[in-house]
Amino acid sequence: MYTQALNVKDTALPAADPQREARFQARIDAEEKIEPNDWMPDGYRQTLVRQIAQHAHSEIVGMHPEGNWITRAPSLKRKVALLAKVQDEGGHGLYLYSAAETLGVSREELVEQLLDGRQKYSSIFNYPTMTWADVGVIGWLVDGAAIMNQIPLCRCSFGPYARAMIRICKEESFHQRQGYEIMVALCRDGTPAQKAMAQDALNRWWWPVLMMFGPSDQDSQHTDKSMRWKIKRFTNDELRRKFVDATVPQGRYLGLTFPDPDLKFDETTGHWAFGAIDWSEFRRVVSGDGPCNRQRLRQRKRAHERGAWVRAAVLAHAAKRRAREQAAAGVAAE
Ligand SMILES: [Fe+2]
Ligand SMILES: [Fe+2]
Repeated sequence: MYTQALNVKDTALPAADPQREARFQARIDAEEKIEPNDWMPDGYRQTLVRQIAQHAHSEIVGMHPEGNWITRAPSLKRKVALLAKVQDEGGHGLYLYSAAETLGVSREELVEQLLDGRQKYSSIFNYPTMTWADVGVIGWLVDGAAIMNQIPLCRCSFGPYARAMIRICKEESFHQRQGYEIMVALCRDGTPAQKAMAQDALNRWWWPVLMMFGPSDQDSQHTDKSMRWKIKRFTNDELRRKFVDATVPQGRYLGLTFPDPDLKFDETTGHWAFGAIDWSEFRRVVSGDGPCNRQRLRQRKRAHERGAWVRAAVLAHAAKRRAREQAAAGVAAE
């Protein structure tokens, strides 16, 4: 979901090496983890860099819609929980940039590609958070969709990504709980006005959340290779269906109505059938024309510029420490 397989075509790859590729694929088939210093096909490396970077950017940009509500949370308890959640998302971004760096790209390059628009982040973070109920819906549905997508990534064939996902998933489940608990407070214990606010939030977020799983399988350009390499374990449509099956009963417990007249339980398949997704909206948002795309990138650029002094200070400190250590080593050697 944070990894919607959105980016442009792979750049030209060096000539294939069929023998090494066969050995590599045999390791993947045997469920061995691939580590940074192991040989890997360039396509595998590029796919992972693209996916992990997109995931990292999504965690970082994803701090904006909710960060917006920290000062307006309705109680101290809510404020503390939301603050912790938004900080977790920042941490997720940092683990993921580190995982991407093991593939030979630098965090600086990746951040630059986000800021100049060459790399994407999840479409979901281009929607506005209008009311406090949106914070509940984001935890319940956006983090819920993240969990559905990310649990299988704990078994991804690339070791550093898989290991980062284990910790991230534990934190995501806290995020989902805090969101759902806000929804319970609004819908089951709240006033009619609070329940109406929750329904309005669900109405606005439901379809964009379904789009988080990425294009449908017929239109997803990266799915086949990613499945063969065991980067992905389920297709976009499979994950979307699992998410709908898990989420509809939760919404019904809240007494909410999903904004989809075609949503109904299909006795023959045992799954919830749902209506057609408006893929033109998805393409519009991904290509930069969603309700908040410009605002999010503007905020990100400003935050990056304002952080320049911190980066400069950290580098200056590291250089001084290195110089001191070298001087001490020189004295010891004399
Ligand atoms: Fe996260
Ligand atoms: Fe989260």
